[in-house]
Amino acid sequence: MCGIVAYIGSEKAGPILFDTLKRLEYRGYDSAGVAVKSQESKDSLEVLKSAGRIADLEKVYLKLGSPGETVGIGHTRWATHGNPTDRNAHPHVSGDVAIVHNGIIENYLELRESLEEMGVQFQSETDSEVLAHLVRMYYQGDLAGAVTKALGQVEGSYAVAILCPRSPYLVCARRDSPLVLGMGKDAVYAASDVPAILSYTRDIVRMKDGEMALLYKDKIELRDASGASKPLELEKIEWGVDAAEKGGYPHFMLKEIHEQPRALQETFAGRILEIEGDVRLDLGMTDFEIRSLNRVSIVACGTSYHAGLFAKYLFSRAAGLPVDVEVASEFQHIQLRPGTLLISITQSGETADTLLALKKSKVCGVKTIAITNVVGSTVTGLADGTIFTRAGPEIGVAATKTFTAQMAALLLLAVRLGKARNYLTPDQARKMLMEFTRLPGLVQSVLEKREEIKAIAEKYAYAECYFFIGRDFLYPIALEGALKLKEIAYIPSEGYAGGELKHGPLALITGKTPVVALATCGKKVQSNIKEVRARGADVIAFASEDDSDIVKVASTVVELPKTRPALSAVLCAVAVQLLAYYTANKLNLPIDKPRNLAKCVTVE
Ligand code: M6R
Repeated sequence: MCGIVAYIGSEKAGPILFDTLKRLEYRGYDSAGVAVKSQESKDSLEVLKSAGRIADLEKVYLKLGSPGETVGIGHTRWATHGNPTDRNAHPHVSGDVAIVHNGIIENYLELRESLEEMGVQFQSETDSEVLAHLVRMYYQGDLAGAVTKALGQVEGSYAVAILCPRSPYLVCARRDSPLVLGMGKDAVYAASDVPAILSYTRDIVRMKDGEMALLYKDKIELRDASGASKPLELEKIEWGVDAAEKGGYPHFMLKEIHEQPRALQETFAGRILEIEGDVRLDLGMTDFEIRSLNRVSIVACGTSYHAGLFAKYLFSRAAGLPVDVEVASEFQHIQLRPGTLLISITQSGETADTLLALKKSKVCGVKTIAITNVVGSTVTGLADGTIFTRAGPEIGVAATKTFTAQMAALLLLAVRLGKARNYLTPDQARKMLMEFTRLPGLVQSVLEKREEIKAIAEKYAYAECYFFIGRDFLYPIALEGALKLKEIAYIPSEGYAGGELKHGPLALITGKTPVVALATCGKKVQSNIKEVRARGADVIAFASEDDSDIVKVASTVVELPKTRPALSAVLCAVAVQLLAYYTANKLNLPIDKPRNLAKCVTVE
């Protein structure tokens, strides 16, 4: 998984490539590179690439006197084939053809062998390099034609940008990897995501699978998979560059945690029909089809998987539907029976395991819904219906606002399913929806507890291990709290259903293992708190206001607003995010770019 950019216009390409690449670092950041048309000698390239951060490479570029002309391509990498080294960094070059690639070329070994038999010498261990050699081999004055032939031999996924100084245009193409184009004044841009180019243009074209684009400095020629020209569908981006920048917070993660009231409001906006006691969603299903459902199967990864587990409790209670939730990479599609609704949850819409699980489920002929935060992402083209969470771009690697927005989308879906199946009366649905509208305000109250949570985080920041426990709706949040702490604070953490502790993990509890008890719904967790207190552990409880029983058993209590259990899970999610954030901050860790991780995992 990587980020790619391209520029052709009337300004020097290098600085623009570095600037746009830096905004894509969340897609991968172990190596970077640029290729620009040379100023010195016509029809040749200047290529600069290395392992490490983009900012370091930029310094080298500036030291060299900012070489290059007004056209170029760039790449930020997260290694998949070959280690993060200088020679594996993109662009890959063959003669005067340079390419940057995001995706996986599945048949690259086969292609590499046949190219080697023809005498081609490879410089890297990457799958991507084969593309550079193929394009060069086919190039006879028509770059688009050569790229078409090369891509015709490739199995797998790609978003590519290709530069050859002999050609008057750049070529971009995509299959199963995101790519957007931007139309500026005397300039055309390409990038893996919109925020990268937003400070240059707001006129965007989202490329679709199979499309190829020829980028000239004053126009874009778009072609479909058959090579026929297509009219450009320009989209005006309304959200500001600020939305993709830190906006005064020290980290994107903290900014994104604070954006949650807004993200929830947006996700609910225009969808709650209070008078009818119903919800408006584009599910691609009739009420009759919803009534015929007998099961829901959910596939997702990481934090999105935890949102899936939350839905398990929700759908059974609001719609009488049993739910299976599976980690997408372990999905066994043969268990899908007619009458199943398959839901794939993925904030990025590009997670390879989730996309594959969704594709497998489609073979079984079941109805499918995607829940995603990215309009135009690959998942939206695969599912029958899509619910967009409207959290805005999330840059921090740790999912925060996209998670609670997924929970909000699932709350809406639960009511829609319950209503269509006559499982909820209009009155019950109306009551639930009214409470949903109060959720953004309740989340705001949790954010106001930040200093209290920060003090706790700092007190336990050097703990060797943490436990999170919760029951019912709060069990998925216990898992999420543990994941967050592992991910950004690097503290080994375990999430458990409260009732499971005594079946083994209790052996690990000592005075050195702080336990976070999510205690906003139900009384049963109190006995679990007593169990761990008896073993010497400190217990930090997130509980509802005025719960005097919890105060008697926990070491520290943070009071959260009282609300229905499903909504209190959202409040606890925000609380554990803050706990993880302030812990990692105390430890001075690179919160937005935790080691070994990337925002969007487009490999299986
Ligand atoms: O884009 P997705 O929601 O499909 O991503 C799934 C996981 O990779 C993601 O949730 C990951 O676990 C987060 N970094 C956790 O904060």
